[in-house]
Amino acid sequence: MNIYRIRGGEALKGEVDISGAKNAALPILAATILTDETITLENVPKVNDTVIMVETLEKLGSSVEYLDDNTLRINTSAIDKYEVKNPNIKKIRASYYFAGALLGRYRQAVVPLPGGCNIGGRGLDMHEKGFEALGASVKITASDIVVDGTEAELSGTRIYMDKVSVGATINIMLAAVLTPGKTIIEGAAKEPHVVDVANFINGIGGHISGAGTDRIRITGVQSLRGGTYAVIPDQIEAGTFMMAAAITHGDITVKNVIPTHLESISSKLKEIGCKIQESDDWVRVIGPAGRLKRTQVKTLPYPGFPTDMQPQISVALGLADGISTVVESIFDNRFMYVNELKKMGCNITVDESTTAYIDGVEYYQGANMTSPDLRAGAALVLAALAAKGGSDIDGIEYIERGYENFDKKLRQLGADIQKMEV
Ligand code: UD1
Repeated sequence: MNIYRIRGGEALKGEVDISGAKNAALPILAATILTDETITLENVPKVNDTVIMVETLEKLGSSVEYLDDNTLRINTSAIDKYEVKNPNIKKIRASYYFAGALLGRYRQAVVPLPGGCNIGGRGLDMHEKGFEALGASVKITASDIVVDGTEAELSGTRIYMDKVSVGATINIMLAAVLTPGKTIIEGAAKEPHVVDVANFINGIGGHISGAGTDRIRITGVQSLRGGTYAVIPDQIEAGTFMMAAAITHGDITVKNVIPTHLESISSKLKEIGCKIQESDDWVRVIGPAGRLKRTQVKTLPYPGFPTDMQPQISVALGLADGISTVVESIFDNRFMYVNELKKMGCNITVDESTTAYIDGVEYYQGANMTSPDLRAGAALVLAALAAKGGSDIDGIEYIERGYENFDKKLRQLGADIQKMEV
């Protein structure tokens, strides 16, 4: 088993290059199924989730070549099966994108039910509703999502989403790109990775407009071409390093980012006492010399404050002067890290699984902790970096699902963190 061994107390300083966005790369990898021609994808983060997606593409019959750690050449024209079989696929949530992509291209798919982080009930009803509206039949069995569009002709339609869902918005896009007629998604998610998937598909001949607004229009085309595409920078990885500057009273410049994607995070950091400077493709966060200030946070769909940054900002507020509240409005089980954080002396209580009340302390004390999920794991690492004394964190395979070279990048900023086998 691997752990991170961390000795806290260093102010993190310097520059860090942000990797490509995991949550954009995953659906774009699935979207390569929509064309017979060769795709070259750049800026793909080499993290466990993308490696599992690649493995699965190969098992379906695609050829995938790593030109370097972050550049892949993919050709999916030899896919000859529509049933996804990879024991590792259960570890990730994004497996559901194979359902949309295989349905779109081959009109049928059998995909194991998604796994991923246990951060609350993560339904599939919006995905199901979208596929059915396009004319497919959908069965959710005890183990699989079974989608069949071979009985009747699929055709474009208007779909009203009952809740804002990143996964369902992208999945319906994937299924609709090659479906005749016009598909309109009302109440679509507006996250940067939704826009990135649309840009990728349009770049190879698709017809998607309105991505980034709550109404996306897709006009079906007969086929897509090949091409080269670079994935956008990871909003959440950037936000995590920005929060590290605040928590450790450091000074970090995140490079290769799109600052507009980080606005909700930058603005909270200003509220809690950090200085922010930014240019076209970098943001610099300077933590205050004294205590952080208290504030209130509510997670919301983009452009609101991201749920994937909720644990990290809670760790920061645990060190702020006064009482802060953090309301989680997207997932119903996203405070599982709280008991771990309490081991460090954090004064945090959670009400009805949705609201955390945090009475800031002056410092955290090092402790041994278990990472309960991807983002919470990263947040515990930040807490340990700010703590007095040493901490061991296990369960780091969760963290490695989403952060490329996390320990190495932190060391470059001056952190005392080692990955060790125990
Ligand atoms: C994606 C991201 C995840 C991020 C989340 C919200 C990936 C692989 N994961 O997850 O990191 O935290 O967006 O930004 O990109 N819901 C339903 N029925 C559905 C679909 C969703 O009830 O059919 C609910 C979910 O339970 C949740 C909310 O809608 O409460 C938002 O979920 P969604 O946006 O779909 O998140 P994911 O795509 O799972």
